[in-house]
Order: sequence, then structure tokens, then C-alpha cells
Amino acid sequence: MSTTADTLESSANRVLVTRQIPKAGLDVLQDKVEFRVLSGRWPPSPEQLIEALASGYTGILSTLTERIDGEVMDACPGLRVIANMAVGYDNIDLEAATKRHILVTNTPGVLTETTADLAWTLMMTAARRLPAAMQYLRTGEWRTWEPEGLLGQDISDATLGIVGLGRIGVAVAKRARGFNMRVLYQDPVPRLEAAREVGAHYRELPDLLRDADFVSVHVPLTPQTAGMFGPDQFAMMKPTAVFVNTSRGGVVNQAALYEALRSRTIFAAGLDVYAEEPLPLTDPLLTLDNVVLTPHIASASVKTRNRMATLAAENLLAALRGQRPQHLVNPAALVKEIY
Ligand code: DGY
Repeated sequence: MSTTADTLESSANRVLVTRQIPKAGLDVLQDKVEFRVLSGRWPPSPEQLIEALASGYTGILSTLTERIDGEVMDACPGLRVIANMAVGYDNIDLEAATKRHILVTNTPGVLTETTADLAWTLMMTAARRLPAAMQYLRTGEWRTWEPEGLLGQDISDATLGIVGLGRIGVAVAKRARGFNMRVLYQDPVPRLEAAREVGAHYRELPDLLRDADFVSVHVPLTPQTAGMFGPDQFAMMKPTAVFVNTSRGGVVNQAALYEALRSRTIFAAGLDVYAEEPLPLTDPLLTLDNVVLTPHIASASVKTRNRMATLAAENLLAALRGQRPQHLVNPAALVKEIY
């Protein structure tokens, strides 16, 4: 890898931007490197990506909708970096990239607060039964104030269980203070400092699920977390509990969640992410009135998407300059000897 800035400006560095991204990100690339943005509203298929890459690129700026595996990487022999405009990078075959010494970067930090805001929006909306309440009003069922109509669950003074106390989990926990909540957490990584900062108490997952009134999930999708919420986990939760997922759909067994909601094993759920995206319109979750469903919008604010695009572009340029990008997720790719 070159170590001079000159190389970036003058050489054959070319970047493929896989989707139209906020202009702020493209502005970072402008005048620094030659780039092409794939046009079109929809993400490119792997075949389209392979075809586009055939003309030779040293960098890809991707989003989470592009599946980038070894085959795609091999379509572009000069590829040195894949800068994902997302904190999650499960769309990229990390091992394949590392073997090929292709650096992979993500955009942590800049979307933390916006994502935590949406987790809370889902929590509150599900707890207070907003989908059912809106339906009730719109269909003219609302005749009078009802002493026992549309009763939900209290958030104040309740117990919040956070699964994954990373940046976003911490931001969600901080918001719980305003509601005087007790906060529990589970995480395979020791998070003592973060836990102390937000006053969260560690529990093994089954204990957390049994004790929490709200469960909010903030783990990456990995082989270890895939399907970690299934029938057994929902069965442990309280019938009054609300389950919220803004991480990745793959961590939840969606059929089991549907069944838990349908049978009122749990009270309600708020979901922003799904096993299959877009959520098929035939999915049975759409028939339930105790689930709030949003289309993977947790980071979707103007400011945050600008910051994500900017950070992805900065990571990408750093890698092409031969510097270590700030948010490198596979440092092993820098080590020539390991493969
Ligand atoms: C991410 O960044 O991984 C989110 O899912 C989208 O912002």
C-alpha cells in the first residue's frame, strides 16, 4: 500500500459509490479521487455490482443493502478498501476481505443518538399501543372516553433490559434516567465502565428477560447472535413486556416473535429491522395490532445521514492514502503474513 498523499491525488485510484448517498459524502471525495456513483433508486444486485466493478476500482463506498462477498471482491483485483456507510457490516464477507487484504471500514458513533431516539420511539409507541389507538380513532370506533380502553404499559419506574451495552445501548440507557427506570444489561464483552456510567446492572440473558419490562436489542449480527431471540427467550419474558429491535433482523427468530405477540406471551414489540428487508407484505407480523413496524430508519435523520456519508468517505480516502482508517473493522487485513 502506498504511503503518500500524492498517490491518492494523482494515481489510478478510482472509487465506486454503490448508491446515491448524501452529497456531503460525495463532497469529501470531490477533487480528491475519481469516483462513479451507481445511479438508480434501488441497490445493485451482486451481478450488477460485479459488472460495474469490472472497469477497475481501488475503493468501494457501499451501504448495508449491498452483499459484498469474495466473488464480488474478485471482480475487482485492485480493490483495497470497502467503506460501508453503516455501523453494521454484516453485508460484507469480512473473512473474504481480510484474506484479500482489503480494508473494511464502518461509521460508528455518528448515528448513536439518532438510533437511540428511534429505539425509544418504538418502545413508547408499542407500550402505549399507538397503532391500535390510531386505528380505533380512524375507523370511528371512538365513541367516548373509556375507563378501560386501550390500556398500555407504564414506562416510568419500569425496568429496562439492554442487550448489548455498546455505544447505542449506552445512549438508550441514558434516556432511561428521565423515566426513573432501573436498567439491566447483558453483553458478552465486559462493559464495566459504561455500566457504571449509566447505572446499569449486569444480568445473564435469561435473568434479564425474566425481570425486564422492556427489552431493547443493540448487538451486531454475527454467527453468535443470529437467532438469539427465539421461542425459549420470548417464553421467559413477562406477558406485559415490550420487545424492541433496532439492530439487525437476523438476531430474532421472526416466526417465534410473531407467535409470542399473537398469543400475548409478550405484550408488544417495536421493530425497525427484519430477517428479510423489505418486510414482505405477506408477513404475518403485519396482521398484528401489538407491533410497531418501521422500515429500517433508525439512523434516518438529515444530520446523521450526512455524517455517516462524510465518515464513510473519510475512511475510504484514508485507506487509499495508505493511512490506517479511523474505523477499520478488520485490522488483520493490514498484516501481510497471516494468510
Ligand atoms: C447501521 O448503520 O448499521 C444501521 O442499521 C443503518 O444506519
